[in-house]
Formats: sequence, structure tokens, C-alpha cells
Amino acid sequence: MLTGGGDCPGLNAAIRAIVRKGIDQHGHSIVGFRDGWRGPLENDGSELTVESTRGILPRGGTILGTSRTNPFTRDDGPHRIRETVESLGLGGLIAIGGEDTLGAAARLHDEHGLPVIGVPKTIDNDLGATDLTFGFDTAVHVATEAIDRLHTTAESHNRILVCEVMGRHAGWIALHSGLAGGADAILVPERPFDVDEVCRLIRRRHSRGRYFSIIVVAEGAVPLEGTMETLGAEVDEFGHARLGGIGQRLGPEIEKRTGFETRVTVLGHVQRGGTPTAFDRVLATRLGVAAIDAAHEGRWGCMPALQGNRVTLVALREAVAELRRVPDEEFAVAEVFFG
Ligand code: F6P
Repeated sequence: MLTGGGDCPGLNAAIRAIVRKGIDQHGHSIVGFRDGWRGPLENDGSELTVESTRGILPRGGTILGTSRTNPFTRDDGPHRIRETVESLGLGGLIAIGGEDTLGAAARLHDEHGLPVIGVPKTIDNDLGATDLTFGFDTAVHVATEAIDRLHTTAESHNRILVCEVMGRHAGWIALHSGLAGGADAILVPERPFDVDEVCRLIRRRHSRGRYFSIIVVAEGAVPLEGTMETLGAEVDEFGHARLGGIGQRLGPEIEKRTGFETRVTVLGHVQRGGTPTAFDRVLATRLGVAAIDAAHEGRWGCMPALQGNRVTLVALREAVAELRRVPDEEFAVAEVFFG
């Protein structure tokens, strides 16, 4: 198995579940590859045992390491992975990852016939075919706690506090932490924002006697064309932009347009680090167990997904076909509390 892409809380719980059920109940041997797809590309892995994975359930990060290595941008990537699988006599690969890692897994299976199973993880919660990914609950929890803390200092100083959260091109973390933290406006990538409208909401609060405001902005949020300047961004091996910085641009704009003192907090990787919530530990464990069961049955090209409260197997290609983004009706619930 391997863990790829950005790390998230719950990865170690999933690793432990795969090892425990794989060895104790199915009688398999499990190899853990280092640093995402780099591991099988370079045959860099070692055997994992029940003993070597003890005590990792509550630990954040991943004991296997991770990277954003794309096997399709490396010379002979799929061929080298096949060589590793064959030379070690592996039955198949379990790739724990988000959109990019699982996108590569789906192609390795569909286009190259490699035996691969995916496990959905990401704080962004943006994978298709599953209602939730593990890591998301912890990130929302961290962001909500931060927003609660920003509230008290914003109120004491009569300031506007802009809080930038992660989530890539989906607004799930912003929406849920903003709702839970009582934000006065939430800006998500799904809805280009008008900075004048944000300022109107802030002024309305002032006119009602609330002299501070909390604005939660997703890193992927974009202003309506022509309403505010934006920056270009570097791209990674999968061609995805490295996001971040919208909060730093939005804060001064709000201050300039309203005249109210404004500060910006960028939560960044704090949202991804540390111990997983109980919910994420349980979800990661359920998905890990389902993944090794699927591998045992030779259900390659699949991914266990949470649908409702049930874990079911879906085609990997279905999970990566389209990003799961915030629908209008969910955003409308948050809008009730704006301004
Ligand atoms: O996909 C998880 C995520 O944390 C995104 O929310 C964020 O845009 C990105 O990873 C940050 O990536 P990196 O850790 O490479 O800076």
C-alpha cells in the first residue's frame, strides 16, 4: 500500500486497519511503500507487521510518508510500477489518496491493467462517489476552533477578521467551519464573490450594533471578474495550482472599502496536522477494512466509499470523474446567517 498527495489525519488509522485485517484475518503479507507513487516507482518499500503498526491509530500524518509524485509524468512510470509489483510477488496495490493519487490509480488499472484499489482521503472532501473523505472532519474541527478564537479577539478590538482555510477548488471546509463558527460571510470557490457585497454585509452588521465581523474565505475562492485583482499560481506535477493568498488580498480591500480595521489569519497546514477526530479514525478504519476485503476478493479498480452511513464499493473511475463541490442548496443554509 501507499499514501499519496497531501497528508491528512486518519491515514495511519487506515494503514493500521489494512495491516491488521490483512494479516490477522486474510493471512496476507503487507508491504508499505514510501512517499506515494515514488515508492512503487523506485521499489522503495518494506514489510509492515501488526507489531510495526501498533500505536499509530491516534497519530496524524502518515508513517509511510507521502508525495505528489505523478507516475504518468515519469519515464515508463506504469511499466516500472508493474515491475515492482511482479518482482515482490504482490497481489495488488492499495493506494490511499485524493483526486490526484486515485486519478493515477484509476488510469493504472483501466489503461494498464494493474491490480489497484483506492481508498478516499483528503481534508478537501472533494472526491466524487463518496459522501465523505476522512481528514475532512478533523480539518473542520481545527478551523472551527480557530474561528471561535478569532471571534473573541475580533469582538474585543471591533475588527474585521478574515480567516483563510484550505479546500482547493471545493468550499467544504469553508462552508462547514464557517457555519459551525458563525461566520458573517463565507466565500467559496463555487460562487465567485463580489467584494462590495461582502462590505455591504459588514456595514449592515455595524448598523445593527455589531462592530466586528468574521469572514471565512476558502483558498480557492475567486472574486467576480473585474472586481478585485488576483495572483497567478505555481502548478504541481499533476498540473494543479498551488493555492493560497486570497485572504491577504481580501483583507486590505475590505479595510480600504469600509474603513474598518481588518486583520487576516491564514490557517494553512495546521488544518492537516495532528491527531484525527474520533469520526475520522472510525471512517478511516472502516474504509481500510473494506479496502483489504476488496483486495482479498480481487475487486481491482474499485474504491470503498461512504454512501449514507454504509460503506460500499464503487468504480475508481467514478470517484475521480468529477470533483464534488458545494451545491447551491447547502450554501443557501449558510447564507441565512450572513451579515
Ligand atoms: O489537498 C489537500 C490540501 O491541503 C489542499 O487543501 C491544499 O490546497 C493543498 O493540499 C496544499 O498542498 P501542499 O501541502 O502541497 O502545500
